[in-house]
Parts: sequence; structure tokens; C-alpha cells
Amino acid sequence: MDATFVISNATIAPICASDPSDVIPSATIVLSEDKIAWLGADKDCPESYRQNGQHHDAKGACVTPGLIDCHSHLVYGGERAHEFAMRLEGADYGDILKQGGGILSTVNATRTASEDALYLAARARVQSLMDEGVTTLEIKSGYGLDEDTELKILRVVRQLSQTCPIEFHPTLLAAHALPPEFTDKTAYIDWICQTLMPKVAEQELAAAVDIFCEPIAFDLAHAEKLFKKAQDLNLAIKCHAEQLSASGAAALAARYGALSIDHGEYLTVDAIEQLADAGTVVVLLPGAYYFLREQQTPPVSLLREHQVPMAVATDSNPGTSPGTSLLWMMNMACVFFGLTPFEALAGVTCHAARALGWQERLGSLKQGLQADLLVWPTENPEMIAYAMGQVKPELIFKKGKLLKGSL
Ligand code: NIG
Ligand code: FE
Repeated sequence: MDATFVISNATIAPICASDPSDVIPSATIVLSEDKIAWLGADKDCPESYRQNGQHHDAKGACVTPGLIDCHSHLVYGGERAHEFAMRLEGADYGDILKQGGGILSTVNATRTASEDALYLAARARVQSLMDEGVTTLEIKSGYGLDEDTELKILRVVRQLSQTCPIEFHPTLLAAHALPPEFTDKTAYIDWICQTLMPKVAEQELAAAVDIFCEPIAFDLAHAEKLFKKAQDLNLAIKCHAEQLSASGAAALAARYGALSIDHGEYLTVDAIEQLADAGTVVVLLPGAYYFLREQQTPPVSLLREHQVPMAVATDSNPGTSPGTSLLWMMNMACVFFGLTPFEALAGVTCHAARALGWQERLGSLKQGLQADLLVWPTENPEMIAYAMGQVKPELIFKKGKLLKGSL
């Protein structure tokens, strides 16, 4: 195998799930086409790899896997600055939704936006994430809630994947809120299962389905129907669970083999045991916790004790987390939730890959995995979560191609 790029004299943080804080000093990583051909100590690098490819002396700089934002809703129309101001005056997030605002106000703006306008707005958000080293990005629908608009959002995600040099994981979140056309939640879930999901599956517009399980949205019976249908259609399962209340949705999702449950502030010990058994990831979303001024933090010590993988994501959306900085989320996961800087790094790499079901292919630096990697302007991997977005990667490789920087 010929080398295409050889990066030596690096501090390599492979971020493997078994020990994310493992670091190889004075190390070399060899890329061959889209894969990692070899990595290890400089002195052990096989002679053959020294002969070909483009060489780069990292001068001690840290190399990590490409970042993965495994939870976002960044295709939407409009904004919700007015609602932000109302909430600062004391209005409640759930009450705003019940009065037809909140998610439903973004649904109106998204329904009326053209596909091109949605694409352009989303493209700018994707660019901010890419600048920080995000090489894989999950995007959910959920601001359409009718056939035309849900498909329109998922087509925008497809267009992004055809025009941006990173990878996308599309998720159907039609079960986000009750649209104005329906008065009965069960009837709406039945329509999603019987009409929308088969179309989405047939057009291969989503890889997974998700549901917002809260008293202000959908309940366990709705979630179970959706999960059963997802299994029939071979779609993976994700679930917004235990954010505002302990609904039991996380345990249900674990029983259906969900890739992830997301938020998790109100997780119980019992649910955590079931998540551990199922290998389901908990995706922590500190941006929403911060923006909604939530009082309950996720039970990180218990998750750690039960070895439940913890991912960290932006949740980028207009209502509860309008930003597009995964680096800031890493910092907030440390400050608000008590993750270590290495846990935060694992949360946006190996555990985020597992939350997408792609851990066999990406998320760590290992021989044979996809060559998604970043070279940072620091020798210390802990700087990445520490620096509040100040430290950004100098070189970005996706599938072995150099996207940013020069050697
Ligand atoms: O993950 N919780 C549901 N969905 C989003 C918020 C959506 C919105 O308010 O527009 C979330 O926080
Ligand atoms: Fe979300």
C-alpha cells in the first residue's frame, strides 16, 4: 500500500473507547488513499512508508480523529430571538409551544422557505462546524411535520452531502411536535408510520428515526409504535429522552436497541443499567441545558460508573441551542456536566461515531479506519475542550483528502 500522506513527530490522541486518554508521543500516522495505513512511534514506522507520499513534520502538534456532531437540527427557516427574549422575561419553553409558538413557529418559517433558501442557510451553519474540524454531521428533520416539508428538509441534507466535503447522517424527526393539521397525537404518529416513513425509506432519505418523548410532545406508546415501524423498515432508532422529565423513554429505546438517547438529564439508575446492557449511547447536549437554563444536570457519575458511552453534540436548532460550535459544547460539557477534557474529546469522536452506528469505520485513529483526522496548533489534546473555541485545527483530512491547510 502506497502512502499518500505521512505525518510524523506528532502527539497522536487515537481516542479509542477503551482508553480515550491514551496518547502516543513522537508518533507517525500514515494515510493511504481514504484509510489509515499505519500509526505508531516514529522510530517504528516501516521504511517503505518513508519513500512515498507527502510528508509533514508536525513538530509535536496533536493529531485527533475528525470531530463528529451527532445531533443537530440545522436545516430550518427563520429564527426565534423574540421567544428568547420572552423566556428571559419568565415565559416557559413548554407553554410557548402549547400556545402555537416554539417548534411550531419554526415549522411555519420552514414550510414557507424555498428549498434553496433552506440550503443556503444550512450551508453557512455547516461551514462554521467544518471550520472547527467537524468531518461528520448528523442532521434531523422535524420542522416540516407534513410530507412536503419533511421531504424537503431531508432533500436539503442530501444536497449538503453532495456539495460539502464531509459526511452527513440524516435522521427523520417528524415526531417532533403535533402539527396544526392534526388534533390527535396517535393519529399523527399513525400517519408518520403508515405514510411518511415508507416514503422516506424508499427514497433512502434517512438512516434513522427519532422522537421527542416528553409530556409536551409524545408518549411511550407513540414511541413504541414508531420504533416497531423503524425496525420493519430497517431504520436505526434515536430518541430525545428524559430532557425535561423522567418519562421512561430511554429504557424503552434501549429495549429497541436504539443507537442513542439524547439529552438524558432525568435518567434513572434503572434506565442507565438498561442503556449499558443495550450499548446505547447517551448524547449530552449542554447547549440546550444552558440556553433553557435547566436546573437538572445529567447523571454523569452514574453513566461513567456503568460505562455508558457519553457523546457530546451541538443540538444546533433555533429554539434551544442556536449556536454552531462543537468546541464550545465540549467546554460546557466539562464545566456544567463534569466531563474531563478527554471525555469531552471522546464524546465528539469515538462515542459520537457509535451514536451514528459508524464506530467500525470512523471516530478513532486506528489502522484500517477511515482517514478522518485533524492536526491542532497545540501539543496538548486537553487544550481542545479547554480553549472555548479559541484553538481550531490547522489541517483537516476527510477520507484521506486534505480539506484545510497546507503541508
Ligand atoms: O433537541 N427537544 C426537541 N427538539 C429540540 C428543540 C427544538 C426547538 O425548540 O425548536 C431540542 O432541544
Ligand atoms: Fe435535539
